[in-house]
Amino acid sequence: MSNDLVIRDLQARIGDKDILKGVNLTVREGTIHAIMGPNGSGKSTLAHIVAGHPGYEVTGGEILYKGESILDLEADERSKLGIFLAFQYPVAVPGVTVANFLRAALNAHRAEEGADPKTTQIPMAEFRKQLRENMQSLEMDEGFARRYLNEGFSGGEKKRLEILQMAMLKPTMAVMDETDSGLDIDALRIVAEGVNRLATPTMSALVITHYQRLLNYIKPNFVSVMMEGRIVREGGPELALELEEKGYDWLREELASA
Ligand SMILES: Nc1ncnc2c1ncn2[C@@H]1O[C@H](COP(=O)(O)OP(=O)(O)O)[C@@H](O)[C@H]1O
Ligand SMILES: [Mg+2]
Repeated sequence: MSNDLVIRDLQARIGDKDILKGVNLTVREGTIHAIMGPNGSGKSTLAHIVAGHPGYEVTGGEILYKGESILDLEADERSKLGIFLAFQYPVAVPGVTVANFLRAALNAHRAEEGADPKTTQIPMAEFRKQLRENMQSLEMDEGFARRYLNEGFSGGEKKRLEILQMAMLKPTMAVMDETDSGLDIDALRIVAEGVNRLATPTMSALVITHYQRLLNYIKPNFVSVMMEGRIVREGGPELALELEEKGYDWLREELASA
């Protein structure tokens, strides 16, 4: 119960535009929860706000994680609590290798307020061992770790990096925003296999997708549908199939006439 992510009546705006208009959603510990919805309904906004992305103004409601209100926490503090947001548009960082980046991310997690960084940093040998093990289990080529971050990465490689980062950081709440229509089937499969492989009874995943096809590979326990800034329907995996078959219009009509 206490490790659930609980979103209550969340309202948010960008500039003077209201985007989230009272979102209620509970992601239970150890479950895969999908959010589907038409473009522009506020799915990415929700993902960013959960992760603590600046640039959105939360105007009402609350988000609780592990029993703690997280809205006042910075993104890095939420990350330390176990919340992970896979970047939808990762930037290229020339001169920084994948391995360096991952080590910095791990060390940032281990850093303690006021402590000498030397005492909390992951020893190089241990880092290399973890990296090697994770790359092997994700069937990644060893040379990948030596490449510069996102420089010339294909869509699939960016996704692999995302999954590798997840495997190294071991979040308890992974938020995956997969609305990017540029994702090809291979990239979708990489994400899905990664999530399925990393899923444990203590890891939850909030998987955001416009298309049902991702859910052919990731089997969600719950599906919530977002429209115009609200969760308008909740169900099991069958709801995703129904939306795939019928689109979103019937739901819109049903809501309009309700
Ligand atoms: N930076 C921004 N500035 C202004 N409006 C934005 C911005 N980002 C998103 N929006 C608007 O917020 C609404 C929700 O967007 P988004 O959360 O990306 O929806 P989804 O992910 O469901 O497609 C859309 O109408 C979009 O145009
Ligand atoms: Mg989006």
